[in-house]
Amino acid sequence: MKIGNRMAAIAALVPKSRCVADIGTDHAYLPTYLVTEGIAERAVAGDIHKGPYLSAIQTVKMLGLDEKISVRLGDGLAVLTPNEADVGIIAGMGGTTIAGILSARPEITNNFTLLVLQPMSTASYLRRWLVENEWEIVDEVLVTEDGIIYEIIVAQPGCSAKYQSLMYDIGPVLWAKRHPLLKEHLTLKADNIKSVLAQMQASSEAINSLKYREYQEKLAQLEDKIACL
Ligand SMILES: C[S@@+](CC[C@H](N)C(=O)[O-])C[C@H]1O[C@@H](n2cnc3c(N)ncnc32)[C@H](O)[C@@H]1O
Repeated sequence: MKIGNRMAAIAALVPKSRCVADIGTDHAYLPTYLVTEGIAERAVAGDIHKGPYLSAIQTVKMLGLDEKISVRLGDGLAVLTPNEADVGIIAGMGGTTIAGILSARPEITNNFTLLVLQPMSTASYLRRWLVENEWEIVDEVLVTEDGIIYEIIVAQPGCSAKYQSLMYDIGPVLWAKRHPLLKEHLTLKADNIKSVLAQMQASSEAINSLKYREYQEKLAQLEDKIACL
């Protein structure tokens, strides 16, 4: 079964598991890949919307995996019972949405032995949520697909050191391992901040705001880090 770079990178971070839960599964490509490759014995594929749920059912049926993959319609972790899945995967949603899904059902979240998360935005919010909720960030990967860089975060239960604020934006493990795509990733982040600052310069009220100074400070800190790579 062929999957793209982003999904392959997510799958490569999933250890041999009894049962994985892929929340927001869409076509169920990831759980079908994990089960077909023998990485997961079983999977639960959940989605909140009827269209993706029906697509997931179709994929699972077509591959004859009905006995091993249970497709369920529902919001976030509500489709699971405690201890049903050992690995939780949430990919392709905003970091704030992912954190919201994890906090909505602590009785399910706290039973995962591993989380593999791929936020499309606000990764810093998600990292902070993990650290503040006793999840240790144990691995991070950057992967490119169609010219876009994606961040993947792996966390396990445990206390980690509180990081300095900028590290939640950069990714502590990405920084520690000096990931080969990190310079490009951080340069894109710095460019985004520069364009926000440029837009704010059109208004004297914006230039004198706290937000403007915060962006300036973050940009300077990011540029210092980029210079070290
Ligand atoms: C952009 S797709 C990502 C699909 C797949 N996980 C991937 O990474 O390619 C996001 C999916 O998440 C689903 N979704 C959004 N919010 C959800 C929630 N609270 N619970 C379950 N699924 C959700 C959407 O219906 C959609 O199918």
